[in-house]
Formats: sequence, C-alpha cells, structure tokens
Amino acid sequence: MTPTNLTIRPIEARRIEERLDGIVPDIERFVLEPLIAEIEQLKKDRNAVVLAHNYMTPDIFHGVADLRGDSLQLARLAADTEADVIVMAGVHFMAETAKIVNPDKTVLIPDMRAGCSLAESITGADIRLLRQRYPGVPVVTYVNTSAEVKAESDVTCTSSNAVAIVESLDSDRVIFLPDQYLGKWVASQTDKDIILWHGSCMVHEKFTGAELREYRDLYPGIQIIAHPECPPDVLDEADFVGSTSGMINWVKDEVPRQVVMVTECSMSDNVAVESPETEFVRPCNLCPHMKRITMEGIRDALLHMQHEVDVPGEIAERAKVAVDRMLAVGATR
Ligand code: 13P
Ligand code: SF4
Repeated sequence: MTPTNLTIRPIEARRIEERLDGIVPDIERFVLEPLIAEIEQLKKDRNAVVLAHNYMTPDIFHGVADLRGDSLQLARLAADTEADVIVMAGVHFMAETAKIVNPDKTVLIPDMRAGCSLAESITGADIRLLRQRYPGVPVVTYVNTSAEVKAESDVTCTSSNAVAIVESLDSDRVIFLPDQYLGKWVASQTDKDIILWHGSCMVHEKFTGAELREYRDLYPGIQIIAHPECPPDVLDEADFVGSTSGMINWVKDEVPRQVVMVTECSMSDNVAVESPETEFVRPCNLCPHMKRITMEGIRDALLHMQHEVDVPGEIAERAKVAVDRMLAVGATR
C-alpha cells in the first residue's frame, strides 16, 4: 500500500503491520507493533478512543490515533464520541476541554505533566482584574488555558476560529488572551480594538523572520506556512497562516514543490507521509509538553486507567458555557 492510502481508511480497518510501513525504521516497528496490538485490545476492552493532536509523533499519529486534528477538531470530536473512555494524546488543556464537553465520560491523559506555556501564563484571578479594568469588555480566551480561566471567560476560541469568534461579538473592543501573537494576528484581521495579554508559546516564539528569509534564499520558490502563535515578523514572511489542520489542508490542496511548516516539528513528519509529492524543509522546534506523550504512556493509561482528568463541577459548568458558545459560532459559519 502507498503511504497516501494509510490515512484514508479509518485506523481500525488497517492491519497493524501496515500502519507504520515507511513511517518508522523496521527495527522500531519490531518494538512498536506489539505495543499497538496491546493498545488496540485495551481500546476494545475499555470502549475507548485515542484522540491525537497533529503534533503527536508519527508512531502515535499513524499507529493508534482513532481521531486526529487541531484543537477545535479535537474539542468537536470529544463532544461527539460515543466511547466511554477518551485518551487524550495531547496536552492537559485539551484533556480538560474533552472533559468539559463530556462530563460523564472518563478522560485520561498519559502524562499529567504535559502542560503548555500559554496555559501557565494566566490565572482566573488575572481575568477578574482585567474585567475590573475594562468593565463591560467581552473576554475571548484561547483554548490553550486551564478550565479555571475558561470559566472566567465569555467565549473560547482556537487558532482556526479566533477571527470568527472575535467578529461574532457585539462589541468594538475585545479582551483577547493569553497569546499576544495570536491576538496581534487577530487584530490585523479585524477592525475591532483588541486588548492583549502577554502570554506566548515557547515553541513558536523561537522562530524569526530572519530565519525564514534565509530559507527563501537557500530554497528559491519555497512556500512558507506558519501557525498564528508565531511573532508578527514571522507571519509577515508567510505565504499562508493557519491552525495546524489549516496548514495540513493547505499542503494537501496546494501540493507545493517545497514547503516549510513553521510550527512544531512532528507535524511535518506526519504530513510528509501523506504528501509524497512535496519536499518538507524541517526546522525542528519540539514542544516538550507534547513530547511527554508516548506509545508506552498511552498503553499504561488504558491498562491502569490513569491519569484521570477531572474538572470540579462549578468550574466545569461555567467553562462549558464559554466552550459551547465557541462551538455554536463554528456551527453557524
Ligand atoms: P491548533 O489548534 O492549531 O492545533 O494549535 C494548538 C497548539 O497547541 C499549537 O501550538
Ligand atoms: Fe502550548 Fe506551544 Fe506546546 Fe502548543 S506548542 S502545547 S501552544 S507550548
């Protein structure tokens, strides 16, 4: 089978020996395939699904993920699944969001330490202070935040719907937090006055415009596509700006000869499997939080039903209002 076919069929329809064909070296398949078989059996026993973010390593992304996507897609998929157990192969805020939209399901994360520099940059108390300073101004909160922060917000957003969410509000001024760079990008796409917070992503803030200009010199004609968590000088250099799934779709639709995906490292590895016509130039900025999720960790999560992510009732209820508002805006556009 060709690598392209690998992702067309749902994972349960693929033989385990086919899943990592051409994706990891044969020596690694020897270790990984028994692990995949164990995980598949545990998924059946527990009536569980593995939801995987686009930044997971290729063994997870192509080997055991039932459903894959960006933050918005994962939130929607979590809301729709009929499984009893959700294993979030992603970071903690993604697992919390899955729990918020699915309070009756068991949500597991393979490693509780899988956090996010953006989520760490702000607390619920910070939002209460912002509301005192800017009375009546609505608060739009990026999903890369804790449930406590979401509970203090009017509506959440992701990188794929941030502009639409801001535009949907009946106010000329909007508080947008915590990502200053995503907020600046949104400000460049709307006439609304955006009040920013000072958070940033430790992975995307490392990219520079100068580095991308070097790629243009080194690889004439290369296409540069970037995640909106990057600083403005990086986004100014980009041919396309979008969420992780937005970037993947752009590559599939445009089929560029050469591309650099200005985002976390594993994504190019995952997409390259599905886009053999495109050459990927790969700067490697890894997210240390995403990389805490491993195949063994997923197996252990299902085996021992660990580590359960819970959100206290009152916080979950208020956070759900903000998340549901976001999902409703997406549904009407
Ligand atoms: P996406 O919603 O675009 O997948 O982004 C999530 C994230 O953590 C990017 O760093
Ligand atoms: Fe957070 Fe950045 Fe890692 Fe995404 S890549 S989870 S925004 S630290």
